[in-house]
Amino acid sequence: MKTTTINIDPAQVIDVVSPLLFGGFIEHLGRCVYEGVYDPDSGVADEDGFRTDVMAALAELQMTIMRYPGGNFASGYHWEDGVGPRDDRPTVRELAWQSIETNAFGTDEFIKLCRKMSWEPMLAVNLGTGSPEEARNWVEYCNSAPGTQYADQRVGNGSKDPYGVKYWCLGNEMDGPWQLGHVPADQYAIRAQQAAKMMKGCDPGIETIACGSSWPGMPTFPEWDREVLTYVGTLARYISLHRYVGNPNNDPLEYFATGSLVDKQMEVIDATCRHVQAVNGSRRRHFLCFDEWNVWYKDRKGNGEGKIAPALIEEDYNFEDALVVAQFLNSFIRHANIVKIANLAQVVNVIAPLKTRGDELLKQTTFHAFRLFSECKSGRSLRLALTGDTFDTDNGPVACLDASCIHAPEENRLTLFLINLSPTDDMNVTASLHGLNATSVAGDIMHSADLKALNTFENPDQVNSEEFANVSLTSDGLKTELPAASLVRLNLEIPS
Ligand code: AHR
Repeated sequence: MKTTTINIDPAQVIDVVSPLLFGGFIEHLGRCVYEGVYDPDSGVADEDGFRTDVMAALAELQMTIMRYPGGNFASGYHWEDGVGPRDDRPTVRELAWQSIETNAFGTDEFIKLCRKMSWEPMLAVNLGTGSPEEARNWVEYCNSAPGTQYADQRVGNGSKDPYGVKYWCLGNEMDGPWQLGHVPADQYAIRAQQAAKMMKGCDPGIETIACGSSWPGMPTFPEWDREVLTYVGTLARYISLHRYVGNPNNDPLEYFATGSLVDKQMEVIDATCRHVQAVNGSRRRHFLCFDEWNVWYKDRKGNGEGKIAPALIEEDYNFEDALVVAQFLNSFIRHANIVKIANLAQVVNVIAPLKTRGDELLKQTTFHAFRLFSECKSGRSLRLALTGDTFDTDNGPVACLDASCIHAPEENRLTLFLINLSPTDDMNVTASLHGLNATSVAGDIMHSADLKALNTFENPDQVNSEEFANVSLTSDGLKTELPAASLVRLNLEIPS
């Protein structure tokens, strides 16, 4: 039996949890767009060709912001190919994923989908094979009032009112040699600075995200980030972080160190931001935008072999993967003061919580983990003091309990997200609330004795959340017992 005690002090506020931490990502990759969100030939498509089953499931996830159109795809994409009458749109050879792109889905369809889903749109411009001017023109197309060339093109395509797209990524993973148009940091910084200047010239209200390192294993990490931010300065509001993790060695403890590694990645990039701010003598700091994250290691097939919507990187997610998705979210909440946007990559079929097969839809294990968090995301993150068991990893000791806490006094609610990382031992947890007077507690759990359990079309409810009752209030807090390898969400009612 493991033990952990948690001290929760309502005065120890890290920051308000940004709702934008619960975002998603739609890329023209494999079957994410076609056969995913958009499938006019499907029996479950609506009048605009969007799949109603996918939309209903994504609505359950209560995502707030959606990144589009890539990813690696963005670095070869020309947005003008994807607007205007469908029959006039070119079918092109797509090089990032070696597929054929029909351009049947483009900017106007994406914005329409965002409106239906109440998502904040987030667009990634092409700074690989595209130009800063092309990026600026896209801003005009989306955000300018009628009366000039690109704005009028939008009007001609049926949208008089500007779209008001606020968040713009200045390219994608430009530090990676795999990226179309990859260049060294100093050259990317010039492109990004020029693009941001022109884009903001078109619409000063937009916020831009500079490409940071693709992951901490890059040889230029975090020097890339320092060099880019120093040059681009406050023309960028955010720096991007990406992280994909996996369990290739079938070692759950090594895998369950993910939360601590994500903590470290964000802390290093935040330190870089602060360093740049000091060197630049700027009053404005950069925030983190974790615009791609997920588990991804089982299906690495990235070559579409010249097909339209080929099945690429369609990961099957098991129970342990869901626990790791939960660790990412705990880590974001713990760092609510520095990370303001995060996008689960991606939303359907491609490394996604949802999978389609014909007109059927499957909710993977990771769907339920994300939902448990997103349902209770509003409020302020509280700094938790944990004392308890740890386990050893190559990167040092890691607490057996991975936790975060959101306090929402306006809703009389305090939510604890607790993950027992021990694959073998249950855990006794006691928490003291330092003066907060809880009147009731309700629990939900994700648990499976089999870390490899997964949902399939034939057996879709093998892993889900269920009510958790093994928790009780004490004179100054609560006590509970978490099964080995479990995610528990506790909602405490705290009348004001
Ligand atoms: O999400 C899949 C791919 O992973 C994205 O296109 C790219 O940005 C990253 O390498």
